[in-house]
Amino acid sequence: MTAVAVDDEFAAMTGYNEAVIKKFTVATVFWGVVGFSVGVLIALQLAFPVLNMGLEWFSFGRLRPVHTSGVIFAFGGNALFATSFYVVQRTCRAPLFGGPALATFVFWGYQIFIVMAALGYVLGISQGKEYAEPEWYVDLWLTIVWVAYLVIYLGTLATRREPHIYVANWFYLAFIVTVAVLHIVNNATIPVSLFGAKSYILWSGVQDALIQWWYGHNAVGFFLTAGFLGIMYYFVPKQAGRPVYSYRLSIVHFWSLIFLYIWAGPHHLHYTALPDWAQTLGMTFSIMLWMPSWGGMINGLFTLSGAWGKLRTDPVLKLMVTSLAFYGMSTFEGPVMSIKTVNGLSHYTDWTIGHVHSGAMGWVAFITFAAMYFLVPKLWKRERLYSVRLVNTHFWIATIGIVFYITSMWVSGIMQGLMWRAYDSLGFLQYSFVETVAAMHPYYLIRALGGVLFLIGALIMTYNLWQTIKGNVRDEKPFGLPQT
Ligand code: HEM
Ligand code: HEM
Repeated sequence: MTAVAVDDEFAAMTGYNEAVIKKFTVATVFWGVVGFSVGVLIALQLAFPVLNMGLEWFSFGRLRPVHTSGVIFAFGGNALFATSFYVVQRTCRAPLFGGPALATFVFWGYQIFIVMAALGYVLGISQGKEYAEPEWYVDLWLTIVWVAYLVIYLGTLATRREPHIYVANWFYLAFIVTVAVLHIVNNATIPVSLFGAKSYILWSGVQDALIQWWYGHNAVGFFLTAGFLGIMYYFVPKQAGRPVYSYRLSIVHFWSLIFLYIWAGPHHLHYTALPDWAQTLGMTFSIMLWMPSWGGMINGLFTLSGAWGKLRTDPVLKLMVTSLAFYGMSTFEGPVMSIKTVNGLSHYTDWTIGHVHSGAMGWVAFITFAAMYFLVPKLWKRERLYSVRLVNTHFWIATIGIVFYITSMWVSGIMQGLMWRAYDSLGFLQYSFVETVAAMHPYYLIRALGGVLFLIGALIMTYNLWQTIKGNVRDEKPFGLPQT
C-alpha cells in the first residue's frame, strides 16, 4: 500500500476535518495571486505615477494597504490556518475541536474580514496604523473569529490522543495567542458614533507610537515568523523524510525567540520622541534576536543531514531550503539595521523595503509555496503533483524575481540615504528631495520586473495545483540528476 493510501486510511479512521483545510488552501493560492498582483501594480505606480489614474480609490495610498494586508493577512493568514489545522490534527491524532460548523465559521468569518478590510481601504476608511488599518467594526469581527480559532486549537490540543505536544504546535499556539493580545491592545479605540466608520485610539502621543510598533514588530515576529516556523517544524522533516535535527534545540529556539521578540519593537522608533533608553533596549534585544533566529534556521537546514541529495530531485525541498536561507539572511540584516547608527541611514529608505521583501517573499512566501505543494496532493488524494518540472520552473522564476527585487532596493535605499545626508563644502544639502526621487526610477523598474517574475511563478503554481486537483499527471521524464 502506498504512503498516501496509508495516510488517507488513517485520516478516515480518525475523522479529521480536511474539508476546511482544502478551503483554506484554495484561499491561500487565490489571495496570493491577488496580493502579488496588487504588489506589482503599486510597484508600477511608484515608477510611473500616471498609473494612479487620478482616481482616489485607485491611488497608491489606498492600494498599498490592500497589498500589505492581502499578502500578510489574506495569503499568509490563510496559509497559517490551513497548515495549523492540518498539523494539529495529525500530531494530536484528534479531529478539530468544535466540529465542522465551528471550523467553517472560522473560514468564512476570516474571508469576510479580508473583504471588509480591503473595501475599507479603497474607500479611504483607515485608522492610519500600519498593518492595523481596519476600523473598529472590522476589528471587532476579527476578534470574534480569532477567539473561535483559539477555541478550536486549544480544544484540539486538550482532546489529543497523543501524550506529547509536537513543537510545531507550540509555535502555532504562540502565534495565535500573541496575535490576539496584540490585536486587542493596538486596536483599543473609541468609535466616534455607532454607525460612523471612524474611531480614536485610547493611547496618546508617544505611548500610541510605542504600542503601534510593539504591535507592528510582533506582527512580524509572531504572524510572519512564529507561525511559519510552525510550518517549518512539521513540513521540512516530512518532505525530507528525516526527523527534526535537534528537538532540544527546537525548545531552546522556541522560548528564546518568543522571549526576545516581544521587546524589540522600539527599533522602529529610533531618533524619535521615545526615551533614549527604550530605543537602546529595543536595539539590544534585536541584536540578541539574531541567535535564536539562526538557531531555528540551523535546526531546519540540518534536518536535511543525510538527505541533501534529495535536493537534486525534489524542487519542493529546494523551496524549503531556500526559504530557510532567506530567513537566515533577513534575520541577520534585521539586527544590523536595528543598530542606531545603521538605522540613521536605512530608516525611511528603500533599504527597509528590501529587508521586508527578503523576509516576506523569500521566507514567508517560499515556505508557503512548499507547504501548498505538499498539501494539495495529500488533501485531494493524488499520488503526486501534476508536474514536478513546473515546480522547478516556479522555483527559479520566483528566485530570480526576488533577487531583482531585493538587490534593486538595497542599491536604491543606500543611495537614497547617502544622497539625503550629503553636504557640499558650504554646508548646504547637496541634493534636493526630487533629485533623490529621480535617481530611484531605474531601481523601481527593476523591482517591478522582479515582482512580475514572482507573480508569473505564482501563476505557474496555481496551474500546477489546479491540474493536480483535477487528477491530471503530466507525462514527463523523471526530474533532476540521479541520486548517488
Ligand atoms: C509580486 C511580489 C511583490 C511586489 C511587486 C511587492 C511590492 C511592494 C511595494 C511596491 C510596496 C510598497 C513599497 C513602498 O512603500 O515604498 C510593498 C510593501 C510591502 N510589501 Fe510587498 N510586494 C510583493 C510581495 C510581497 C509579499 C509576498 C509580502 C509578504 C508576505 C509583502 C509584504 C509587504 C510589506 C509588509 C510591505 C510594507 C513594507 C514597509 O512598510 O516597510 N510583499 N510591496
Ligand atoms: C532578527 C530578526 C529581525 C530583526 C531584528 C529585524 C529588524 C528590523 C528593523 C531594524 C527594521 C527597520 C525599522 C525602521 O527603520 O523603521 C525592520 C523592518 C521590517 N522588518 Fe524586520 N527584522 C527581523 C526579521 C524580519 C523578518 C523575518 C521579516 C519578514 C518576514 C521582517 C519584516 C519587517 C517588516 C515588514 C519591516 C517594516 C516595518 C515597517 O516600517 O512598516 N523582519 N526590521
